[in-house]
Amino acid sequence: MKSMPVLTVHPELFLPKPTREFLPRLVMEVDPGDKMYSGHDRHYLSSGASALNVILAAQNLATMETFGRILDFGSGAGRVTRWLRAAYPSADIHTTDVRVQDLDFCTRALQTTSWPSGIEIDKLRAPATYDLIWVGSVMTHLSARDWMRLVSKLLSWLTPGGLLVFSVHGRLVAARDGTAYIDAAAWKRIMKDHAKAGYGYADYADQRGYGVSVESLSWTAKTIESIPAARLVLLSERCWDDHHDVVALQAG
Ligand SMILES: C[S@@+](CC[C@H](N)C(=O)[O-])C[C@H]1O[C@@H](n2cnc3c(N)ncnc32)[C@H](O)[C@@H]1O
Repeated sequence: MKSMPVLTVHPELFLPKPTREFLPRLVMEVDPGDKMYSGHDRHYLSSGASALNVILAAQNLATMETFGRILDFGSGAGRVTRWLRAAYPSADIHTTDVRVQDLDFCTRALQTTSWPSGIEIDKLRAPATYDLIWVGSVMTHLSARDWMRLVSKLLSWLTPGGLLVFSVHGRLVAARDGTAYIDAAAWKRIMKDHAKAGYGYADYADQRGYGVSVESLSWTAKTIESIPAARLVLLSERCWDDHHDVVALQAG
């Protein structure tokens, strides 16, 4: 059995100010199978805190006192969930992922209710409704059609006035040499469609329906405009981990 890594706080760790008070109650154990943990404790901790920072901003803008029930959709093994647990200790937190092997850790170490997700978005069913749904780096892997399907589905799982907060690849990623994300030929196709339609997507070489997407700000705004009964609370560029743009929508 692999030993359980324990995070250490580097003296130069930067945490956004609104998140610092939650560090003392953060769970520091890491699932040895956590795909988002590469041994860099400082980055693992700062990216989780950065997600919480945006969620707190959206919560304040939406004037919500707290969240009774939260869903981390595509939670993985809890890189962000642990910050949600620390910030909302009495919330009923749910975690879901297609990587069911990640969910045991979330249930045990972060006291979440876990349920398995699936890749067929139209077939997804949630066991509850939520005041907050966080979706970190899932839209960034979907086609425009699946983006729209998943956003609509998740909005339907919100309580009235609830918040959906999700990350997307925006201008920063579009300006990069995308070979760190996907192979060069696929990146070229993504950029061609991005230039033409504002949204580019290609599958990973070994997967169908799962790959890399990049969207323009105008595509994001125009698409949100087409969604009735959702208020745009924030659209902030590279506010998650100095990398992903984040959108927050509030159910009407
Ligand atoms: C890049 S990882 C991010 C994990 C986590 N949100 C974080 O920031 O640490 C994307 C996650 O989305 C999950 N995922 C992809 N498609 C999904 C689906 N249809 N339902 C639930 N999770 C999904 C993947 O299995 C993976 O754990």
